[in-house]
Amino acid sequence: MIGILRKLEWPFRPHNRRALFLGILIFQAAVLVAGEFLVDTWIRTEFSLSQASADRLFVFRISVAFCVFMLTGVILFLASKRYQDALEQSNVKLNKEVAKQVRAGLCKRNALIFGLAKLADYRDTDTGAHLERIGLYARILADALSPKYPEINAKWIDRIVLASSLHDIGKVGIPDSILLKPGRLTPDEREIMEKHALIGADTLLAIRAKLGADEFIDMGIEIALQHHEKWDGTGYPFGLEGTNISLAARIVALADFYDAVTSKRVYKEAMSHEETAELIKSLHGSHFAPDVADVFFANQAEFNAIRAHNQCNDQSSLKIMNIEHIARQFIDEQMQIRNLAA
Ligand SMILES: [Fe+2]
Ligand SMILES: [Fe+2]
Repeated sequence: MIGILRKLEWPFRPHNRRALFLGILIFQAAVLVAGEFLVDTWIRTEFSLSQASADRLFVFRISVAFCVFMLTGVILFLASKRYQDALEQSNVKLNKEVAKQVRAGLCKRNALIFGLAKLADYRDTDTGAHLERIGLYARILADALSPKYPEINAKWIDRIVLASSLHDIGKVGIPDSILLKPGRLTPDEREIMEKHALIGADTLLAIRAKLGADEFIDMGIEIALQHHEKWDGTGYPFGLEGTNISLAARIVALADFYDAVTSKRVYKEAMSHEETAELIKSLHGSHFAPDVADVFFANQAEFNAIRAHNQCNDQSSLKIMNIEHIARQFIDEQMQIRNLAA
């Protein structure tokens, strides 16, 4: 029965299966009634039975026909249900497998993009850890702003944590003599330096052209392009003002500023949390969006804890030792794999 149903399956879409089931039952009922009518006529004309005997025989045949009808209905129903369950189970399995593959693909893509961002970040931050910290700061700010902005949900927060790493990806296009220059930049140098926002956006747009529209890349483009825009419209590259600057870029602007100011660079010393907080206070509503600055002050203890942890661990020699340790571990693992394979 299941075999027959499977053969019949191809012309019928799943939502028509019930119609097929009902159709078969109605057809069967019609055949039984017609057959019974013919048999009854034949018996009454061919055999000389009394009226009472013919009626009893009729009731008996009708009862048998009804039982056959009901039994067939139950069998059909069970077979159809079993087949539908099997089909649904296989769909669930297939969906899970597709979701797993998509997740794996996204993880690989995110890892590659983060690696690319880290490579760019190494050029002026010694350790590349700047990106991890910005992600942590962006998460705190986005979390605190979520009651005000309905678009901020768990997925959006995960996205900004990763996309924030792309903010300075355009620095790969800036010469070392400008990027690492101690002291003030000349107006010409500043103009070149400010190009990093456009270079970053252009790089990500090239990735987008290959990958197609993607929420993560789109947020990365907004951040790379707008993280130096200011709330009062005096930022660059376009001088966007207020909420014309994307929410993600408004958040990353403060996270990046805080981390840059509280971190040591080859061309400057680190400022304390208190000094940085004072600076942010003076830029409230001019450089920074008022609500973003407000949630910074409401959560500054967490910012300070991340900064303090970072300063304990951010000695270059320690970091290089750590990198060497990780690289050695990787080589050992590869050797073990090769030995096992040999
Ligand atoms: Fe930047
Ligand atoms: Fe940065």
